[in-house]
Amino acid sequence: MKALTWQGRRDVRVETVPDPTVQADTDVIIEVTSSGLCGSDLHLYETLGAFLHAGDVLGHEPMGVVVEKGSGVPNLDVGDRVVVPFQIACGHCFMCGDGLPTQCETTQVREHGMGAALFGYTDLYGSVPGGQAELLRVPHADFGPVKVNPDASDDRYLFVSDVLPTAWQAVEYSGVQSDQTLVILGLGPIGEMAARVALQRGVRVIGVDLVRFRLDRADALGVETLDLEHDDVVARVLDATSGRGADAVIDAVGMEAHGSPGAEMAQRLATMLPKRVAQAVMLNAGVDRMAAINMAVELVRRGGTISLSGVYAGALDPMPLQVIFDKQLTLRMGQANVRRWVDDFLPLVEDSSDPLGLDTFATHHVALDAAPEAYAMFQRKDPGVQKVVFKP
Ligand SMILES: NC(=O)c1ccc[n+]([C@@H]2O[C@H](COP(=O)([O-])OP(=O)(O)OC[C@H]3O[C@@H](n4cnc5c(N)ncnc54)[C@H](O)[C@@H]3O)[C@@H](O)[C@H]2O)c1
Ligand SMILES: [Zn+2]
Ligand SMILES: [Zn+2]
Repeated sequence: MKALTWQGRRDVRVETVPDPTVQADTDVIIEVTSSGLCGSDLHLYETLGAFLHAGDVLGHEPMGVVVEKGSGVPNLDVGDRVVVPFQIACGHCFMCGDGLPTQCETTQVREHGMGAALFGYTDLYGSVPGGQAELLRVPHADFGPVKVNPDASDDRYLFVSDVLPTAWQAVEYSGVQSDQTLVILGLGPIGEMAARVALQRGVRVIGVDLVRFRLDRADALGVETLDLEHDDVVARVLDATSGRGADAVIDAVGMEAHGSPGAEMAQRLATMLPKRVAQAVMLNAGVDRMAAINMAVELVRRGGTISLSGVYAGALDPMPLQVIFDKQLTLRMGQANVRRWVDDFLPLVEDSSDPLGLDTFATHHVALDAAPEAYAMFQRKDPGVQKVVFKP
């Protein structure tokens, strides 16, 4: 089959690799019909190369049709259309039972001390081949995949794999109520979807980014937007909130935030070190660009909540604990627990009026062969490139 493979820093290529096969009773194989490109893939593309190997298949936002199944998947039949959560979880361990499939005790990557395995996401998350490919082996398919209404478009359901549960969890973890103010840092796919979810609940949303067309998209939804490079964001948020700050802030930026020049240089240098040394640096040093999280601490009111969706990776990144303690903040974070939220948001996905605008969320549908250029333009944040969907 054809698959998008990681080869090195900013180097991904479509290659022919062996077809996946059923290896366990609870596996299915799907023929991938749509597969998202995510901000998390950009971390692999640029920064986390020390944990990848040439030839690793990327992608963790797939949907498709079941073409083969093991004997332990009574919930699915060959021919079913499914969307696949980005994490792999068993559904019956203590953590899955507690609504935390990202911490699944059956798939935890213990050799690296990490949580549940993820599709297409480095050694740290189990080196599982990803879904930017023609075919995908889905382990624990007796729990993960969500069946899709056969008449719906792929785009209506595709974002159930990651974007929607991540945005939903970000808003849930922010604790924001309908008459309150939420600041969202970063208006990429995750930040924009979090804005859609929050607006739908009647929350006042202030969005911050530095990419013009992303600010414009958010503006059109009813978000009050601030340009990181041209507005005094802190002053404007304080002005807009009686001098107190926002009730909650979502960081939808993560470890590659604009505005952390020293750390940007350190990250770049780390990508040039030999793999072993780079791994040690990544795991034992501060490697994150902290501009967004630091701004979140400034923007949130005393007693407020910071909800982190953006992925961070460094072990020694300095956090302003004195301020976090003094302001009595709550911090919640983590990969999205996809199955935890599906039943809560599915009515909005299946509502014929499409209240979250899923049908028109993607800006680009491209063939897998075009993936290398799509990665480059998504990373550059070319005008109009918000969400890319591959059609393998
Ligand atoms: N928690 C999860 O389960 C989960 C799931 C998916 C994605 N993510 C993470 O969420 C983050 C966003 O993902 P995305 O797909 O929207 O990616 P993206 O890279 O397209 O979006 C990030 C946006 O942040 C903006 N930005 C950069 N620095 C900023 C700053 N200092 N202040 C405000 N905005 C800034 C960028 O211009 C960009 O528009 C990534 O870190 C990704 O890894 C987490
Ligand atoms: Zn993703
Ligand atoms: Zn489990």
